[in-house]
This record gives sequence, C-alpha cells and structure tokens, in this order.
Amino acid sequence: MRLEPALDVVGWCRTLAALTETPGMTTRTFLSPPMRDVHRELSAWMTRVGMSVDVDAAGNLRGVYPSASVASTTDSRRLYLGSHLDTVPNAGAFDGVLGVVMAIAVVGLLDGRRMPFAIEVVGFSEEEGVRFGVPFIGSRALSTGLDEAILDRRDAAGQRLADVIRNYGLDPTRLEEARATEASLGYLEFHIEQGPILESLDHRLGIVDAIVGQSRYDVTFDGMAGHAGTTPMSLRRDALTCACEWILIVEQHARTIPGLAATVGSLDVEPGASNVIAGKSRATLDVRHRDDTVRREAVLRLLESAEAIAVSRSVRFTSALRLDQPAVSMDPELTARLCRSVERCGYPVHSMSSGAGHDAMIVAGCMPTAMLFLRSPGGVSHHPDESVLVEDVAAALETGLVFLEDLARG
Ligand code: HGY
Ligand code: MN
Ligand code: MN
Repeated sequence: MRLEPALDVVGWCRTLAALTETPGMTTRTFLSPPMRDVHRELSAWMTRVGMSVDVDAAGNLRGVYPSASVASTTDSRRLYLGSHLDTVPNAGAFDGVLGVVMAIAVVGLLDGRRMPFAIEVVGFSEEEGVRFGVPFIGSRALSTGLDEAILDRRDAAGQRLADVIRNYGLDPTRLEEARATEASLGYLEFHIEQGPILESLDHRLGIVDAIVGQSRYDVTFDGMAGHAGTTPMSLRRDALTCACEWILIVEQHARTIPGLAATVGSLDVEPGASNVIAGKSRATLDVRHRDDTVRREAVLRLLESAEAIAVSRSVRFTSALRLDQPAVSMDPELTARLCRSVERCGYPVHSMSSGAGHDAMIVAGCMPTAMLFLRSPGGVSHHPDESVLVEDVAAALETGLVFLEDLARG
C-alpha cells in the first residue's frame, strides 16, 4: 500500500483547516471569505489532475474529469464523488473536506487514464446548516434545487441567502444549472465515521448501508424577565430554568429508547445578565433514529413535555421545524460494488448505519448512492482533536481506485 498519496491527502486537509473565519480554530460556513481560499487551493489541484473546474450558483466547487469516450466534459454518463467543504464551529480537519480531497486524489491516481464515464468531484458549499439553520444547501442544489423559502432565509447578521450568493459573485438565477446531469451513474462519498464503531472492531473501513433520519427544531421559552433580588421564587416565570428542566427530560427520554439520539446543542438566554431572571430562552433540538416512526414519536413526546413544563411554570413554549429528513438507505447495487472493492483490496467488509447526516442522504434522492467510512480514532468528531490514520486513507484510496475499475467493467 503506497502511503505517499495518503500523506498528501492528510496534509491537504490540515492545510485547508487553517482557512477559517476564526483564527485559532477551524470554522468555515456557507460562502464565508475562507471558502474562497479553499476554492482557490482545491481548484489548482483539480486542474493539475486534469479536471475542468467551476463554482455553481449554490457555491459548490465542481471539477469534471472527462471520460475516455468524449474528449470534452459534456459526456453525460457521470460518476459523482464528493462531500462538503463547510464545517461546524471549532471543527476538526477532516469532517467533509476529507471526502473532497480524497476524491481528487483518486482521480490523480488514474494518472491521466480515462474511464468510460466522466468523473465529477463536488465540494458542497454547506452541509452542516450552521449559517442559515438549514443543512444540505449544496447537495440540495445538485439534487432537488433550492426553493424560495431557503433562498429567503437570513443568517444571524440578517443577510439573505440569495444575497450572500450574489455577494460571492454568483448568480442565484442560475441555480437550475447546478442540478446533476440526467444519466448520472451514481455518487460515492468518502467520510470519517465520526463515531467509535470501526475503532472498536479495529477495522480501517466501513460500508454505510443506511443513514439515520433526523429532525431539527428551534424552540423558544417565553417567561418574564425580573429582578433577581426582589422577585420571590414562587412568583417567577423563569425561561432558563424552564428550558433546563426540559433539556434534562430530553436526555432522560433518549436514554430509554434503543438507538435514539436526542441533543439540545445550543441555548441562548435573554437578557443574559447575572442579576436578571431570564425572560426568554432559545434552544435547538436534534433527534435521530434509523426508524422514522420511532424518531417522529420521540419528537412528539419531547415537544409535549416542553409544553407541559412550560405550562407548569407559566411560561409560553413555541417550536419551529427546521428539518425533517427521513432515514435513507444506500443503493444496493452501488454498495455491492463498494463491498467487492473493499474485499478485493483485502480489507474486512463491515456494513453499518450512519448516525451522522451526510450529503449522500440528499444526493440519494436523485441517483444511486454509496458511502465509505474511514475509522475515527477515539470516535472523536465535531472537535479539533478529530483525526484520521494515514494507513486508513491509503486503504480507502486503494478501494476507490478498484471501485472505479469495477464500474468501468460495467
Ligand atoms: O450533523 C450531522 O450529522 C453532520 O455532521 N452534518
Ligand atoms: Mn459534520
Ligand atoms: Mn460531514
């Protein structure tokens, strides 16, 4: 197993991790200034391995490696490879970007050899949903298109998504051109597992059979701000303690349902002064399960419990759905090819579901889709200590090349 290409991949990911909105940590959201630097760096590498490069109206970086049959890049039979280039706040160096860099590296390993299909590498502009509160903006633009409701969303600074696209120098009226071609062969995404399973089995690679469904909500507790010193405890309508009581219920309930993950990841309090009883608290709810019925039942229970706690404290509870993403199974035929490729490279084939959401779950809506996981040391992700082993990257690159050849044989 040649390690040099894998060492390059890890080096690239660490270089790109320094392109950030926040010095000292890796934070890169939808079309923020550092994304332009990432596009510049990756475009140069894409060009070097023989791709024609563009950025579509949704801010996705698109590199096309032409097929053997057609000298130009107009060939419609196309395999897509990719992942996302945005990150969560204070992220690691590999979630998302590893999949894009590995895709370019696999094309580089062809060393000029053409396949009987074009290969398009996509660096999706936003998968995490940090800036505009809705995830998968880039992959939705490729698969289903972006509706007005998404284009109208505003970030924390009040900027409309459509205006952010324009300010980046792109044209939101050309979003239709971002859609995948008709005769797409399929999509393969390399991604770190972001959990502890592969490490516990001492496996380098994992084959994703399904991606769990997820529900995301914004919730608000409206109480009454008041003086911390003069307001008797019995007369308070404290929006923060109300939220806290509910947040613990979320955790307790999730622990009773096998396979359920429920998270309150953010909590904002107003006015946020030490001598003022909280008048308002805003939180987010993220609920996931591989069975959509179990997930939606859990959401219902958790929203009902929030309402009951709020009533008991004379606080008003409201919630807004941000995402109801059904669980998605990977394509059996493309996944069988991936299993064959892993086996041919001499690695154990381990099928597993993904607790993390991925662009693959959106792209699966418009073409056959498969995912290859790489082991996450310590199961650490969405954290600066996120890492990947060079030998595992080398194994995945080897598998990617065998996968291309398997697909080329028809
Ligand atoms: O949140 C997730 O599941 C993924 O990291 N976007
Ligand atoms: Mn992530
Ligand atoms: Mn990711």
